[in-house]
Amino acid sequence: MCGIIGILGRDPVVGKLVASLKRLEYRGYDSAGVATLEGLRIECRRAEGKLRNLEEQLRHCPPAGQSGIGHTRWATHGKPTEGNAHPHATESVAVVHNGIIENFRELRAELERNGADFKSETDTEVVPHLVESYLKNGYSPQDAVQASLPRLRGAFALTFLFKGHDDLLIGACKASPLAVGHGNGEVYLGSDAIALAPLTDTITYLEDGDCAVLTRTTCVIYGTGGSVVQRETSKSVVSSLLADKANYRHFMAKEIHEQPTVAGKTLTHYLDVAAKRVAMPMALPFDFNSIQRISIIACGTASYAGHIAKYWFERLARLSVEIDVASEFRYREAPLRRGDLAIVISQSGETADTLAALRYAKDQGLHTISVVNVATSTIARESESVLPTLAGPEIGVASTKAFICQLMVLAVLAVTAGKERGKLSKIDESNLVRELIEVPRLIAAALLAEPQIEKLAHLMADARAAIYLGRGTSAPLAFEAALKLKEISYIHSEGYAAGELKHGPIALIDEAIPVVVIAPYDRVFDKTVSNMQEVAARGGKIILITDAKGASEAAVDTLVTIVLPTMVATFAPMVYAIPVQLLAYHTAVARGADVDQPRNLAKSVTVE
Ligand code: M6R
Repeated sequence: MCGIIGILGRDPVVGKLVASLKRLEYRGYDSAGVATLEGLRIECRRAEGKLRNLEEQLRHCPPAGQSGIGHTRWATHGKPTEGNAHPHATESVAVVHNGIIENFRELRAELERNGADFKSETDTEVVPHLVESYLKNGYSPQDAVQASLPRLRGAFALTFLFKGHDDLLIGACKASPLAVGHGNGEVYLGSDAIALAPLTDTITYLEDGDCAVLTRTTCVIYGTGGSVVQRETSKSVVSSLLADKANYRHFMAKEIHEQPTVAGKTLTHYLDVAAKRVAMPMALPFDFNSIQRISIIACGTASYAGHIAKYWFERLARLSVEIDVASEFRYREAPLRRGDLAIVISQSGETADTLAALRYAKDQGLHTISVVNVATSTIARESESVLPTLAGPEIGVASTKAFICQLMVLAVLAVTAGKERGKLSKIDESNLVRELIEVPRLIAAALLAEPQIEKLAHLMADARAAIYLGRGTSAPLAFEAALKLKEISYIHSEGYAAGELKHGPIALIDEAIPVVVIAPYDRVFDKTVSNMQEVAARGGKIILITDAKGASEAAVDTLVTIVLPTMVATFAPMVYAIPVQLLAYHTAVARGADVDQPRNLAKSVTVE
């Protein structure tokens, strides 16, 4: 889960390497490094911690060289130290890697027996040593790489720089993305079009098993069998501008506040607003009447969007939905029916587990729809139909606006399915569309609770743990709320379906644990109130998020009640998500946490 860049340039290359790494920090930020060719030497610079530490080091003494590679790391094997940072180099070759070399122990033992001197704890370091062993036997750089690749098991995107070869860059990938960028007398390799955007918009995506041999004027791609293959070159539409925080202190705050706008933008992409009808921008390659079951597959926040959508598909379209976290889907050997539908949800479109699940679903003969935010991503490219979320770049590691836009798209898709299957009349459809059209305004109204939530966050900040409860669609929102809090504030938190509390978690309740209850006044409100009573009876401190009617009917002592605008309950999660995002954000700020780049995490999780 790392970011890779390689450049054969016409000027000193270090500035461009660092600029690309900045755009790749979403893939990992625990250490970073660059290697350039200085005359006949490979010059390697690496630093532990955020990219700014490397920048600082380079500012004092920038390396020369017009060819170079760079890396930003999310540690898998070996601590996030300078010694484990990439590039890893031997005498003649430097390598940057994204992925995991699964057989690194055997390879390392073999290479050490033959005299290789390993300096890191990483899996990656076997790669330069392996290539070096072939170089020592008289292989050319290209032959050495091609001889090494079949010996590597696992997933990898690799970029190689060779001592004494100023006009050569080699890239290879398997189950991990890598793209070639074509410039004017320059050539690039990068993890994705986002990294390459300021350098070029002309991109060739490598396919699994490809090895690209690049000079400043040539690009030859070899397929798995070793013969030359042709890959399509396309124009990328990714913006070359780096997103900025506007006047906000953190990207997360900016992204939370963008939600009324991006929710509206996403909605109008999928609706005929004037006619109050759903309007998919393209025809889907199946009829919902032929689908017996939907499998929704995603990770983290995206999977909670899927959990919420399950309620919508089942209620509005009378379609059964199975929901799987992507890392489990392929391995549990669920019986799948050819012609059924898999919906994969991913902000980045690069999550390795989700991508692998998508490929598995395709192999099993399912139709595949992806709901993705990054339109150029691998998941978008490989799925049968793509339903983009128009959230714009999401930089904060905690997903906020992408989640809301995923819900928007899934809501429209559920209404589409209901209509196609004859479960929703025209009047039902137009009522639901009216409710959806209200959501951006209601999100804006929910944001007005921020000052109250900011005050509450100072209390939350001292909690050792927190519990979130909800029923119906508020149950998966409780899971999402707990994830949001724990990932950025490091307070242990769990979300439960409120009715489950009595089956174990209630043992956790005491005066020190805040219990956040998400309860719009809906058909399960009374049941949720009973669960709240159970918490109150045990001294739990309740933070109730509800509407005016809920606040007046609850009749339970709360620490704080946050009152949201009144709305029809169906799409309430898109509005009730706002206070829980704000609570997580302000709690993390109050604790002095690194909100946008929390410890141990990365925005895009490209390893399984
Ligand atoms: O890019 P994806 O949507 O596929 O990412 C999935 C999860 O890694 C992601 O939602 C993660 O859980 C976020 N940090 C949650 O805020």
